[in-house]
Amino acid sequence: MSKLRFPEGFIWGVATSSYQIEGAWNEDGKGESIWDRFSHTPGKIEDGTNGDVACDHYHRWREDIALMKSLGIEGYRFSVSWPRILPRGRGEVNQAGLDFYSRLVDGLLEAGISPFLTLYHWDLPQALQDEGGWPARATVEAFAQYADVISRHLGDRVKHWITHNEPAVAGFEGHLTGRHAPGIQDWNAALRAAHHLLLSHGWAVPIIRGNSRDAEVGIALNLVPAVPASASAADFHACRHFDGYLNRWLLDPLYGRHYPADMVASYMAQGHLPAGGLTFVHDGDLDTIASRTDFLGVNYYTRRILRDENAPDNLPQTTFPAPDSERTEMGWEVYPDGLYDILNRLRFEYQPRKIYVTENGASYSDRPDTDGRVRDHRRVDYLRTHLAAAHRAIQNGVPLAGYFVWSLIDNFEWVKGYTQRFGIVWTDYETQERIPKDSALWYKDTIAQNGF
Ligand code: FCB
Repeated sequence: MSKLRFPEGFIWGVATSSYQIEGAWNEDGKGESIWDRFSHTPGKIEDGTNGDVACDHYHRWREDIALMKSLGIEGYRFSVSWPRILPRGRGEVNQAGLDFYSRLVDGLLEAGISPFLTLYHWDLPQALQDEGGWPARATVEAFAQYADVISRHLGDRVKHWITHNEPAVAGFEGHLTGRHAPGIQDWNAALRAAHHLLLSHGWAVPIIRGNSRDAEVGIALNLVPAVPASASAADFHACRHFDGYLNRWLLDPLYGRHYPADMVASYMAQGHLPAGGLTFVHDGDLDTIASRTDFLGVNYYTRRILRDENAPDNLPQTTFPAPDSERTEMGWEVYPDGLYDILNRLRFEYQPRKIYVTENGASYSDRPDTDGRVRDHRRVDYLRTHLAAAHRAIQNGVPLAGYFVWSLIDNFEWVKGYTQRFGIVWTDYETQERIPKDSALWYKDTIAQNGF
């Protein structure tokens, strides 16, 4: 492979989120979050664990910044725990919570690392859940206060803001499949939640701009390219429907196109929406949601191949079963071209002004060898091939400005608990020792050369 060089100024980063790494779940005035409640509920997390301690980053943040600095990391995407700042979700501010993030941001800047701050990576204050959570419109107002408090305190130093991480997951895994907190299973609640997540993004954008001069503001979506399993009409339809459910339902309103009409019709036909349709959409909401952003964050892991199993006349039979693709330990197909596809599609269909890959990475559990080294070569291959795909997209004119590996360190992987390791740095959960894996060393070289 010839040498790949990335554009000058390209940001090489790593990503984490509050609940997955911080621990200190009830310290210094922090309120309970829906993930505290959910993970403390027996049967919800596969290995019966929780994020009470996680990577203990709340106490080890200095060490973690030093680690990033030693790898040459240029951007750190982290999230703020809302209930650390507003223990009851709205109203009284917890100064200790603000101080923690303020010190973290100062430490990052001292280390020459740009903070990319995500306001919401799923840890809603439980107090707001008790008042209805995201399906309730009042939560949007609470989020606006939260966005204001944070951006007023950190806006002088943080210049990259992400309102939400993966509203589709928060909306649909949280309220439709119930696999995530708060564990609700209800179509109407899920669609309301997704709408309020988007609306709260739209409300927050001008608030953040007002408090943080010259800041870049965006949102991070999990985008999954969909492919029909065969040339049959039924599979094509299933594919289009999945794309509408997961990708277009968010992208279309964010880019000024209203909710996709085919999906609204389908949801109404299936009784997922009441007879009145999108009754939770008020006048002006769609303009708010479409407020101009500076970038789109793309979280990319894999693609989906869709087959309509319920159509009796679904012929021809499957012609595209993703033959013997490699899979990560999450069971996700390794498919670097999907990143290329989604970046190009965004450029042609939605034209974001700028894109960051805000998450990309792989779960492999390679552990330290007897010599203490973690030889995670499959992760190196994953990162290299996905970065090569991103590079091709840049050459096609995609305005990709940076890339964030998920994740800096092994951490609490939601319903999977600690069974999945996404880090380029090994976390020893007994001792809290961090060991940079071979992938971290490879990434360090890549950053130093601005390519590989
Ligand atoms: C994404 C989440 C992130 C992490 C990765 C593996 O959906 O945003 O927190 O769990 O998946």
